[in-house]
Amino acid sequence: MHKLRTLTLVASMGLIAVIVASCGGSSTTGSTGPSGKIGLLLPESKTARYETKDRPLFTNKLKALCPNCTLLYNNANQDSSVQQTQAEAMLTNGVKVLVLDPVDGKSAAAIADKAKQQGVPVVSYDRLILNTANVNFYISFDNAKVGQLQGTSLLTALGSKTNPSIVMINGDPADNNAKLFKQGAHSVLDGKVQIKKEYDTPSWSPDKAHDEMAQALTALGNKVDGVYAANDGTGGGAISAMVSAGVNPLPPVTGQDAELAAIQRILAGQQYMTVYKAIVPEAEQAAQLAFDLLTSASASSMTNGKTTNNGTADVPSVLLNPVAVTKDNVKTTVVADGFWTKADICTGTYVAACTAAGIN
Ligand code: BGC
Repeated sequence: MHKLRTLTLVASMGLIAVIVASCGGSSTTGSTGPSGKIGLLLPESKTARYETKDRPLFTNKLKALCPNCTLLYNNANQDSSVQQTQAEAMLTNGVKVLVLDPVDGKSAAAIADKAKQQGVPVVSYDRLILNTANVNFYISFDNAKVGQLQGTSLLTALGSKTNPSIVMINGDPADNNAKLFKQGAHSVLDGKVQIKKEYDTPSWSPDKAHDEMAQALTALGNKVDGVYAANDGTGGGAISAMVSAGVNPLPPVTGQDAELAAIQRILAGQQYMTVYKAIVPEAEQAAQLAFDLLTSASASSMTNGKTTNNGTADVPSVLLNPVAVTKDNVKTTVVADGFWTKADICTGTYVAACTAAGIN
């Protein structure tokens, strides 16, 4: 009797497994392996990471996992209505999974909802899609920690200066990450520095960051002890404004992304720090999540039960660890990881700075 029940159970589990396999099979599986279209939507191109790192890393990993899959790709150039149109075109085109890095976290909910109506799962990539239950996974970094690392490094750089004056150049308020970076930075800086000027930078535009910094310098008579810039693009904009205004020496400036230009500025002493977010695992694990969603109805085990609330739902999440990088650890972080090689960094005028930092 007991044996019979066990057998029946095993048999029905087998049946469930078959049903799951065929339901999850939005992909076609044959002797050549799974296939199907996957859509990747990235938000902008003024920040170097998307076209130089995220896109090629995702593409290569997906190719390795699924040689017969087709990747559809678009970059929205920081225009949320363009991104909406791109996503709709991909859905019409028959994508089976959408990986979406939203320009605007709130308006991207409409994309996730439309995808859900068509039975297409969505991975929220790097930036969180807000206020919808229709997001299957979120993969990003601990973004409040990014802001804390930036704030803490800036305090270290300011050293024992009493009551230092700083300017804060935050990211685009439509990006949930920008909100987290800002909160994280404030949690460290508030009460320890005087925040003389603070800006939110629409579209994360380096040009707008330049103009914000120029305006602050005029208002403050060039007296600035430190600059909080939310990423390397805006940090670069702020530095160029200070150079144009004749600020010399440059005060410490923060950043994020470990962009090649920022790593070179750090070695040359123009930028104090960046935050290295290992985009290799982020992009590769996103490709893995997309592949899992294409080939199986079951949730990926990669999240280890971790979730992030997006205002409506607890979204299963993979959150990677960011690392602060200054001149002292360029070698043991981005170079050791192969994120940038010596040949990438140590060109022309940077050769001497590389040698001084032990990158040789
Ligand atoms: C990303 C940063 C990037 C910024 C501007 C943020 O959401 O996390 O890495 O620098 O957007 O694109």
